[in-house]
Amino acid sequence: MSFRTTDVDYIEDVSPGSGALPPRAWYASSDATSLSLNGSWRLRVSPTADAEDDSFAEEGYDAGDWAEVTVPGHWVLQGDGAFGKPVYTNHLYPFPVDPPHVPTENPTGDHLRVFDLPDDWPALDEGGAVLRFDGVESCARVWLNGTDIGEFKGSRLAHEFAVGHLLKPSGNVLAVRVHQWSAGSYLEDQDQWWLPGIFRDVTLLHRPAGGVLDFFVHADYDHVTGEGTLRVDSDVDGRVLVPALDIDVATGAPVTVPVEPWSAETPKLYDGELVTEGERVPLRIGFRTVVLEDGLIKVNGRPILFKGVNRHEWHPRTGRALDLATMREDVLLMKRHNLNAVRTSHYPPHPAFLDLCDEYGLWVIDECDLETHGFTEQDWRDNPVDDDRWTPALLDRAARMVERDKNHPSIVFWSLGNEAGTGRGLTAMAEWIHSRDTSRLVHYEGDWNCRDTDVYSRMYASHAEVEAIGKELDGGTLKRRGLPFIQCEYGHAMGNGPGGIADYQELFEKYDRIQGGFIWEWIDHGIEHAELGYAYGGDFGEELHDGNFVCDGLIFPDRTPSPGLAEYKKVIEPVRIEGDGADGTVRVTNRYDFADLSALAFVWSYQVDGATVESGSLSVPALKPGESADVKLPEPPAHQGPAETGWTVRATLAADTAWGERGHEVAWGQFPGAVRVLPSVAATDGPVRDGRTITLGPAAFDARTGTLTSIGGVSVEGLRLDVWRAPTDNDEGTDWVSGVQYSVLWRTLGLHRMRHRLDAVELTDDTLTVRTRVAPAAREVGLATVYRWTSDGSRLKLTVSVAPEGEWKVPLPRLGVRLGLAEAEAVTWFGGGPGEAYPDTRAASRIGLWTSTVDDLQTPYLRPQENGARGDVRWARLGGLRIEGDPEFAFSARRWTNEQLEAASHLTDLKAGDTVWVNLDHGQNGVGSQSCGPGPLPRHQLTAAPAEFSFVFSTDK
Ligand code: GAL
Repeated sequence: MSFRTTDVDYIEDVSPGSGALPPRAWYASSDATSLSLNGSWRLRVSPTADAEDDSFAEEGYDAGDWAEVTVPGHWVLQGDGAFGKPVYTNHLYPFPVDPPHVPTENPTGDHLRVFDLPDDWPALDEGGAVLRFDGVESCARVWLNGTDIGEFKGSRLAHEFAVGHLLKPSGNVLAVRVHQWSAGSYLEDQDQWWLPGIFRDVTLLHRPAGGVLDFFVHADYDHVTGEGTLRVDSDVDGRVLVPALDIDVATGAPVTVPVEPWSAETPKLYDGELVTEGERVPLRIGFRTVVLEDGLIKVNGRPILFKGVNRHEWHPRTGRALDLATMREDVLLMKRHNLNAVRTSHYPPHPAFLDLCDEYGLWVIDECDLETHGFTEQDWRDNPVDDDRWTPALLDRAARMVERDKNHPSIVFWSLGNEAGTGRGLTAMAEWIHSRDTSRLVHYEGDWNCRDTDVYSRMYASHAEVEAIGKELDGGTLKRRGLPFIQCEYGHAMGNGPGGIADYQELFEKYDRIQGGFIWEWIDHGIEHAELGYAYGGDFGEELHDGNFVCDGLIFPDRTPSPGLAEYKKVIEPVRIEGDGADGTVRVTNRYDFADLSALAFVWSYQVDGATVESGSLSVPALKPGESADVKLPEPPAHQGPAETGWTVRATLAADTAWGERGHEVAWGQFPGAVRVLPSVAATDGPVRDGRTITLGPAAFDARTGTLTSIGGVSVEGLRLDVWRAPTDNDEGTDWVSGVQYSVLWRTLGLHRMRHRLDAVELTDDTLTVRTRVAPAAREVGLATVYRWTSDGSRLKLTVSVAPEGEWKVPLPRLGVRLGLAEAEAVTWFGGGPGEAYPDTRAASRIGLWTSTVDDLQTPYLRPQENGARGDVRWARLGGLRIEGDPEFAFSARRWTNEQLEAASHLTDLKAGDTVWVNLDHGQNGVGSQSCGPGPLPRHQLTAAPAEFSFVFSTDK
């Protein structure tokens, strides 16, 4: 046994590591013993790779004074910073780009674990044993009982070592030296935290003599005959048993029988077993056939539409170390929000996640652990994917993904990686994958000529470009023109947004060539933090970082759905329910690709002024995919007096399913009955001046300024025109995709520092008129703003007229009034709810009677920004006031001003003040997706134009 001291050359070696076994399928045995080596390990972190020699790997080494950490885990997320800190960059390498070299400062974690074999472990001369690492970032060297067994890179890929000959019944010493930086880091430049550590399971597997090695389940489905053909190729001969199908065949032999196919909507799995002389391995078989045909991706003979999301593995405490419950939670949340697809951006996930995708039904694009995005900074010079020296490493990564994951029916695409430019290495990967697995297609976004791929894939293409592609007007190479199109990333869910996804979905459904997309991304990668709530880039003092660009998910770090997920659920709902209320029918359309509607129950309800007065079940035929039916509604229930009425029809699960309970809502539609009666206030009262005060009906004003001070005893502060909103992440924008940075334009114009000039306070018999001009210093643009107040004695009406002056070249952030109330807690409104809605994120907002509280109206975007506006509001009650709008308005209410909201960088910066600030908006600018993508479509922009809108105030008794 020899110990080298400082030989760390392997760290910068571009070739795959040494000592590991060839990759193979990842499976759990029915009868072979295994030992999890997860748990508490000893850890010593050194600042460089060679600071310590490797004597710690020797038996008998005393690590008693080392720290203890949990494996799986990242050491920088344990020990309160004592072991180093996380670093977040989007695409910049946090070290000098000089491949394959890495910095001398290379945090290195020596991990040590002593273990005994369990009592039921077979005798050491029976069979062998394999030590498996499911994920280590970024490079590890391993010793067992003092013997160096090898080293490896490829952080999110499994590596196995044969160790049977080294095991002892007790006192086994497993030593793992993990380096944060390695040549592999150049291939792992994904937009995420850099988090070193043994972050997935470590397992010792007994391998019985005659046991299973590797196997490949081929399970095709012939949609014409309704038969499936199963063939399990196995390195070790044996038999394949599928009791439910009466299958008992030899490995390698095909067998064809009638089956129910697997799809994401109908994830039928057949339990089977692979039996060799020494082992039984459970199989979960899904029969499906994926082909490219007529320029379309077809599964089981039908084109599919991806309603997907990009999923990074994330947990706010444990980073990329996820437990099974968290993985299941992700899948259940996806299913419950109508998603049908996941792209495993940008690396193969923990294998258990794929089991869940098979079981619950999600189409998967399995992506290789490969991104070299930082080379874009040097025009892709020296890009490893175009350098033959790196090709073996790329092929190793491709093989480790495909071999590990090949038995999952949910995977329909292999993806070569993300944002790695173009090059021979990618072509080599694609060629190898195509030859190894003909039953799936190959994806890669970075080559718009589609040289190596079976689909034309893009990210963040605008609506106009998507439409052009749909119409096949986009040109491109001959090969590309014959391919289907997907957006592997769109709808950048950073902060408030993404806007415009309903408009995308229309295009996806309209053009056959467009087969859907994947929202960027699933979860905000916020890190739980004692002072900041959730930390993002820069919060750990990183030298280079990309701020909160790492928080761009449809769910918050604690997995609470953000409004973006509610919006997406509605936009992609698999049943369309439409009607106009006039002809007494509702049109129901099945938008599933495979399932009929028999699993759903339909319920109608009838609302009078937002309140449901009657409901009942609606019988809808079990329509097949693509079919529609016009279904008769009952006679509208009678009601008293004039009222706004409407129908709501909901599709819910008729029975419990694996992912949802009976009654879970899948889809809904609303359509109007009788239209709203707009408020009318007869101006029967007149303004009366008395010294410093003007009174009008229930209201009092400051006579000098014309400012409202109270309504019926409720004091009101600072009511005036408001055009500013705390810029959202999308308002901040980026210049590299859309070029739209509203916040810059708005601030340059001065919309955040508008001055209000008082021109006149005029009293007539029935009206108090206050004329003003609202404009920023240094600019000629302005808004002539007139407030007209009238009253019928008990109610107070305000009509605001706004006339833009000068040349306005940018849309307004918002247009409305704001006011402060001394107290407000409960909020009730008739309008859109329950969640927030902006012009291009309002699909999920449904008209009804809603209640909430000021605190609950806030959406906790990690970086504070405009949020929480409720749309289409007829009236709202809060703080002792009832406010009715003509026309409908949007409102928000918070315990801080919009200026304070804007100044905050974390939620913990927001401190409740004494006043509740309420915005009553006539309009807001759309949200868009320009934090990484296109801005709001013109029809969702709030152009500065003459406007008039009214509110009727009364005290809420
Ligand atoms: C894409 C990239 C993602 C992420 C996203 C922005 O270009 O593939 O990893 O960086 O932009 O959040």
